[in-house]
Amino acid sequence: MSFPASTPELARGLKGVILDTTETSFIDGEAGKLLYCGYNIHDLAEHSTFEEVVYLLLYGHLPRLAELRELDMALRRSRSIPKEVVDVIRLVQAAHPMDVLRTAVSALAAFDPEAKDTSEEATIRKAIRLIAQVPTIVAAHHRIRSGLELVPPNPDLSHAANFLYMLHGREPNHEETRAIDVDFILHAEHGSNASAFAARVTASTGADLHAAIVSAIGTLKGPLHGGAAEAVMRMVLEIGEPERVDEYIHQMLAEGRRIMGMGHRVYKVEDPRARHMRERARTLGEKMGQPKWYRILERIVEVTAPLRDRGISLNVDFFAGAVYYLLDIPEDLFIPMFAIGRMPGWCAQVLEQMRNNVLIRPLLHYVGPMDLEYVPIEARG
Ligand SMILES: CC(C)(COP(=O)(O)OP(=O)(O)OC[C@H]1O[C@@H](n2cnc3c(N)ncnc32)[C@H](O)[C@@H]1OP(=O)(O)O)[C@@H](O)C(=O)NCCC(=O)NCCS
Repeated sequence: MSFPASTPELARGLKGVILDTTETSFIDGEAGKLLYCGYNIHDLAEHSTFEEVVYLLLYGHLPRLAELRELDMALRRSRSIPKEVVDVIRLVQAAHPMDVLRTAVSALAAFDPEAKDTSEEATIRKAIRLIAQVPTIVAAHHRIRSGLELVPPNPDLSHAANFLYMLHGREPNHEETRAIDVDFILHAEHGSNASAFAARVTASTGADLHAAIVSAIGTLKGPLHGGAAEAVMRMVLEIGEPERVDEYIHQMLAEGRRIMGMGHRVYKVEDPRARHMRERARTLGEKMGQPKWYRILERIVEVTAPLRDRGISLNVDFFAGAVYYLLDIPEDLFIPMFAIGRMPGWCAQVLEQMRNNVLIRPLLHYVGPMDLEYVPIEARG
């Protein structure tokens, strides 16, 4: 049996490989800096709205008032989903919400009048429709599986408030709305992460936006990407009391297990988005008379201090789970929450890929046997 000769230098996991140029986001992992189309994430989290960030990512510049109003109206008008897609959701309701979301977005393509049109204009119109429809799918699925009546979208509410309204059947207060609005802003875009990369790979073949978003949703599902917030909150609930943190975390580290919500492929210092979720988790916890979860999280931060010396710091998901939990969002909707927020980033990157397309097709180095003799099945013994 012969084997291929020399092993070329591999870029496993494509670590450190620069795929292309982008104008959507800038990340400095050493300095903990994140910009969307040139604007600092701290300014956007403090002063902007998700709708404004959608405009920024789709068009590359901040909107004037009339432009923002027009986009906002288009989003509000596009929220409902066809009855047939609701039927699909009913059929697959027992599946994980990310599987349901992936299936429903795929089904939406069959009803979108421009599904196959990959022109820039049609792709932007589809992006607006999809950004508006994804929260409706997530909320509709949760109500169907809970045996509750569907709550139709309310055009008087913002993107964030309307999502909470469709999920819980009651209008959220300002604090709750703002927490989710900021969460969506913080998740809106993040360079060549695995799901955006998957969307780009799909778009690079000439496939349409729905196909690219289905790829992205499938990729976001994994625990190393979108699943961390869910895992963090599961860990916090299992710990139960701040006094139990030290023993629990020391044991996890001794067993070589990863602390979810920490570490990042790009950030070697604290993820700049974490600070805003930390603040929301603290204030919401206090307002709702449940400060315990935040205290547990802060004690985990203290106990894991040695990880920081190895460049493993807090990421955006560390405090996000507590915010969702306090807002009564079920654990298995944490990744769909991420998907709702990431929609504009995925769409912006698909548009960018389409504008200057090249088929994304890396190579693999074969290490298996070569030139084996084919033996007929009846002679294989
Ligand atoms: C996000 C993540 C996959 C990035 O990892 P990466 O760049 O591929 O780095 P690696 O997986 O190669 O990890 C490098 C080292 O740091 C350690 N490490 C990374 N994240 C860690 C964590 N959260 N807790 C403990 N150790 C961690 C690894 O065990 C590895 O140690 P080793 O060199 O001794 O084997 C990783 O940090 C992780 O699994 N984090 C937890 C999941 C999470 O929060 N994901 C959300 C990201 S926004």
